[in-house]
Amino acid sequence: MVQSNQKLIFGNWKMNGSLEKWAQFSKTVFAQLNKNNIDLGRSVLFLPDLLLHQALQNNELLVGAQNHYFEDAGAFTGETSPELLSNIGIKYALIGHSERRHVFGESIEMISQKMKAAQRNSIKPVLCIGETLEQREANKVFDTLKNQLVSLTSQGAVGECIVAYEPVWAIGTGKVASLEQIEEVHQFLKENLKNELGVDVKLLYGGSVKPNNVKEILNIESVDGCLVGGASLTAESYLALFGL
Ligand code: 13P
Repeated sequence: MVQSNQKLIFGNWKMNGSLEKWAQFSKTVFAQLNKNNIDLGRSVLFLPDLLLHQALQNNELLVGAQNHYFEDAGAFTGETSPELLSNIGIKYALIGHSERRHVFGESIEMISQKMKAAQRNSIKPVLCIGETLEQREANKVFDTLKNQLVSLTSQGAVGECIVAYEPVWAIGTGKVASLEQIEEVHQFLKENLKNELGVDVKLLYGGSVKPNNVKEILNIESVDGCLVGGASLTAESYLALFGL
């Protein structure tokens, strides 16, 4: 069993930040994680594309993309190429984040294609899945999640990945899922992931994770780590997630 102080704490900056903010953040976080002997592999920061190249220059903290297109190159004005991300040294990308699905209308078909594109370019996808409040209230949590997974595997989008369970109603709302809800869903997902993908996949929880609730969430055995939005935006609160 992985000790809770070895688990992953990934940050999603969404459409926030600037060159100055990243410079300050990365300097402080890198120094503190090192000083406290925290494995740098536990941290990946998913940054806006325009910060990625800069972030790779100092090669200190691991960084990833928040999205990319499913074709490698071509006449797709305004899209981000997974091949180019890989070319600049990106090893991780979020795929199918709830905001991509709900704000930008990404379909399961598109997400399947993106999973394959990531894997084809040696980028490890962090696949985000989760139910809406309506689906939870209609008792459709397990059906929804199973459908999100089966639709992917039936389209051949399998292989190396990390999965993040992010209930849509808990994202950016301050409404964190209860420990019982997280445990119940994670156990269900662990079993299904093993059946569907045939491999053990690391499973993260995301949705209003903050310094004051991260410890109890990481103590749940089936939680391999957290994917954190708002609380990853300052060095102070990101470090506090590691207990620093
Ligand atoms: P918050 O932590 O701000 O709720 O965001 C969660 C999230 O969407 C991470 O991908």
